[in-house]
Amino acid sequence: MTTIDKNEIDSLPWVEKYRPNKLSKIVHHPNIIFALKKLIKKGQIPHMLFYGASGTGKTSTILATAKKLYDDDINFMVLELNASDDRGINIVREEIKEFAESRNMFKNGIKLIILDEADSMTYDAQFALRRVIEKYSYNTRFCLICNYMNKIIPAIRSRCMQFRFSPIGGESIKEYIGYICEKEEIQMTKKGEDSLVAIAKGDLRKAINLLQSVTMAFDKVTEENCYFTIGNCTPQEIEKLVKVMFDKKKNFKKKYKFLTDMITEGGFSLADILSSFHNNIVKNDILKQLSNSQIVFMFDTLSNIEDKLNYSTFEEIYIGAFVSVFVLLYDKN
Ligand SMILES: Nc1ncnc2c1ncn2[C@@H]1O[C@H](COP(=O)(O)OP(=O)(O)OP(=O)(O)O)[C@@H](O)[C@H]1O
Ligand SMILES: [Mg+2]
Repeated sequence: MTTIDKNEIDSLPWVEKYRPNKLSKIVHHPNIIFALKKLIKKGQIPHMLFYGASGTGKTSTILATAKKLYDDDINFMVLELNASDDRGINIVREEIKEFAESRNMFKNGIKLIILDEADSMTYDAQFALRRVIEKYSYNTRFCLICNYMNKIIPAIRSRCMQFRFSPIGGESIKEYIGYICEKEEIQMTKKGEDSLVAIAKGDLRKAINLLQSVTMAFDKVTEENCYFTIGNCTPQEIEKLVKVMFDKKKNFKKKYKFLTDMITEGGFSLADILSSFHNNIVKNDILKQLSNSQIVFMFDTLSNIEDKLNYSTFEEIYIGAFVSVFVLLYDKN
């Protein structure tokens, strides 16, 4: 196996530097790890399907499993393929055939084929894969990895043992980034830690990448530094915006000025503000003060603005549209 020296490790992005290399280092999925360890111990690895949101440990878990199964023989016994490869299923099938049929001079036993991004395969390709899985089951196990389980045909699902990777909980994210902070000698405030968790929304890769970006630009990880790094406003700033927008006494002009000042001074985008604004109001008591028709009107119009913003290069007009929602809102009963 190729060896990596210390300088190379130090220059790796932290998501790679701190990628868990053992099953025991995978956080938040104790049941999955327990089941995998048991299967490894029994030597009964089934075909598997790992599914769940990004940055929750699917690739890390299968790599750690492969390491445990094959140790130094990993290069001969494991084939990693990207199923979304646009070369098509025929080429993938050829690679699989060659790998599965090749005699191994070094080790006997079941080989492992990892097919990442399996959900981006066409249905035709998945049907072809179903046959391939069957054909090589005598000496090969497949691990399919995807984000969206419903994009995998039932015929493949039923051939695999399924493992769902749920979004990583706040406590596990804190534990992991706390460990990295200790190793890298980083200072982090409590609010900085909470911000990383809030921004990551269960995606540990996102939390680690953000931690590294903040550390490159600042001496300390604080709430302000985290939000500044992602180019978004802090929860306090959003709180103020919510107050202004729902203030019946403020007219269009005042609300509009507040929002445009916030956007120009902070260099924020309306799309990011809209998303944080939405997250704030759904948790906020403000909805209790609105009638059903006001709530429907508000969410319907805001979702239209959000949709159109994705295609528009002229953000300014949507600032006006956004503010108009909170002026018209109180004309509704
Ligand atoms: N459960 C976990 N335990 C420990 N580290 C994790 C976990 N989940 C994610 N990570 C960290 O985040 C990085 C990305 O994880 P990984 O590549 O395994 O995610 P993934 O689920 O395969 O995501 P994607 O669906 O985007 O491919 C890893 O290098 C690791 O540092
Ligand atoms: Mg992955």
